[in-house]
Amino acid sequence: MLKTIRYGGDYNPEQWPEEVWHEDVRLMREAGVNLVSLGIFNWGIIEPLRGEYDFSGLDRIMELLRANGIGVDLGTPTASPPAWLRREHPEIRLVDFDGRVLAGGTRHGVCPSSPVYREACASIVEQLAARYGDHSAVELWHVHNEYGWAGVACYCEVSRQAFHRWLESRYGDIDRLNDAWGTAFWGIVYRSFDQIEAPSAAPPGVNPALQLDWQRFSNDEHIANYRAQREIVARYSNAPATTNFMVPNCKDMDYWRWSDVVDVVSNNHYLVAERPENHIELSMSADLVRGVAGGPWMVMEHSTSAVNWQSRNLAKTSGEMRRNSLAHLARGADGLMFFQWRASRSGAEKFHSAMLPHGGTDTEVWRDVVALGADLQRLAGVTGTEVASEVALLWDWESWWALELEWRPSVDLGYRERVEAYYEALWKQHVTVDFAHPEADLSGYRLVVAPSSYLLTDAAAKNLRGYVEDGGHLVVSYFSGIVDEHDTVHPGAHPGALRETLGLWVEEFHPLAEGDAASLDSGARGRIWSERVRLEGAQALTSFADGPDAGHPALTRHRLGAGTAWYAATALDDSTGLRALLSEALDHAGVPRPIGVPEHVEIVHRGDYCFLINHTDQDTTVPGIRGADALDGTAYSGDIPVAAGDAVIVRTS
Ligand code: GLA
Repeated sequence: MLKTIRYGGDYNPEQWPEEVWHEDVRLMREAGVNLVSLGIFNWGIIEPLRGEYDFSGLDRIMELLRANGIGVDLGTPTASPPAWLRREHPEIRLVDFDGRVLAGGTRHGVCPSSPVYREACASIVEQLAARYGDHSAVELWHVHNEYGWAGVACYCEVSRQAFHRWLESRYGDIDRLNDAWGTAFWGIVYRSFDQIEAPSAAPPGVNPALQLDWQRFSNDEHIANYRAQREIVARYSNAPATTNFMVPNCKDMDYWRWSDVVDVVSNNHYLVAERPENHIELSMSADLVRGVAGGPWMVMEHSTSAVNWQSRNLAKTSGEMRRNSLAHLARGADGLMFFQWRASRSGAEKFHSAMLPHGGTDTEVWRDVVALGADLQRLAGVTGTEVASEVALLWDWESWWALELEWRPSVDLGYRERVEAYYEALWKQHVTVDFAHPEADLSGYRLVVAPSSYLLTDAAAKNLRGYVEDGGHLVVSYFSGIVDEHDTVHPGAHPGALRETLGLWVEEFHPLAEGDAASLDSGARGRIWSERVRLEGAQALTSFADGPDAGHPALTRHRLGAGTAWYAATALDDSTGLRALLSEALDHAGVPRPIGVPEHVEIVHRGDYCFLINHTDQDTTVPGIRGADALDGTAYSGDIPVAAGDAVIVRTS
């Protein structure tokens, strides 16, 4: 089969007169566009009144795209319900956490559990699928858009009743729920499922187990909506389906649970323009999506330049769009799509960049879009290949939810804060990581890193222990392995789920005051956290030199079976302690790192390709890689020059 990297973007021809469509397809061909996402928000256009359909525009544009050899990722338009539906059925409107009923005039804002909304979705999807199910331009179905955007949960009475049904099927009877939720606490014991409230605005201290199950339920409601549409589409079409994820910026969706539901994992990623070193966050997103997908995936949306919804929408600098795109490709993407093809003149997103900007073709953005399209044709051999990684970082949305509920030992405890700290420290040592669920098979990894693994099930704890005993190397940060899936503390001393694996227990938490730091004997510095570690098998590598735990272990190492587990009892900074800790663990695990490569030069191996991306403003060289330039054929046998801001892709065999 011919290998092609999918290239294109959201295409909204309904915003333009028909003569523009012809210019669009001509320019799409010039740029090498081979796929566009169509009709994502056009429900109010194709069904102007209930039961009345007008597919004339969509028919013509589908035909024009087909005739020009451009594939279609056909949207189901259910993320933007038409005005007539909201007007006829105001009860579908989403009720937010504070009890406010959200108005229309925009997209989303609908109760995911509403039977009226679900029925209307089924009906429009049936029409679309029946009409275009065997259209040869349709390569992919784009179900809905960004499930969970702008309000993952609805707190209306319909949702509450759906929650009761969900709980009933999870627990069977109310006593099992009371037991799992520990409702003896404050005596908030339920005698029937219908006594349970949705966890909306309430006095503090709503049962955390209830809150976790509410998150799971809300996630499942969106999955149910996806599945309902997918089943309809499958009756008419053999093309695969996707919906666009928002990894890692959507906290509310548990994408591990979505990965088997979709045929193709696709993701939207937007840089936070003002964030320093935001290219590292992009890498993390791409690695996490690859983990969720379990293989290749596609970027459904990123931006050629500025977005319109941040506080200050900085334009991308010269070469940045190319670097971003190639970093996604290096980390497993088989498609690079943008929001959007042509910049909108009207509406909320007119200041968002596009492949074809308001300024037209005599612009740097357009030239870069055309050049990237040409590069991608030369890189088509990358598709379907695997990204090389020997290190796994654990990621769990449930742990994220639980860690950041109210009344934790410190407001400074943050899930992403620690994951990103460890990720960055590895990235800067040019180590490519996979992300894995704590219950996943980890046996293929030399090193596993578990930052902020606050919630660990018994199965996950057993998995980690087995991994170490069988010869694995595990690094764990503080406040991990504390609770189970109901936010119930594992029996005995902390960290109950990891006590034997780490060879220690914790007598007392000593979170630090805002801005305070604790010094370690090694010279490293810890922030946020200190605790009284008691050894029972582990050895102290260094101790706290000051602070509430002065003289007690801060970093430990424990040999268990054929493997080793490290533990950090404080938030080590990258520049001082984290890098040293990870270097030691990487060395023990035998994970090689390139020598003499500047910190911000990204090196990723995918299939037979090695991607070298220079995020600095200095020209550099990378040693130790042999092969030919995948874009211009230059043979490399010594140091490979990578100019400031440039990227070189080497075909190594
Ligand atoms: C999201 C949406 C798009 C568009 C972009 C703008 O990703 O899916 O429709 O609004 O944001 O950045």
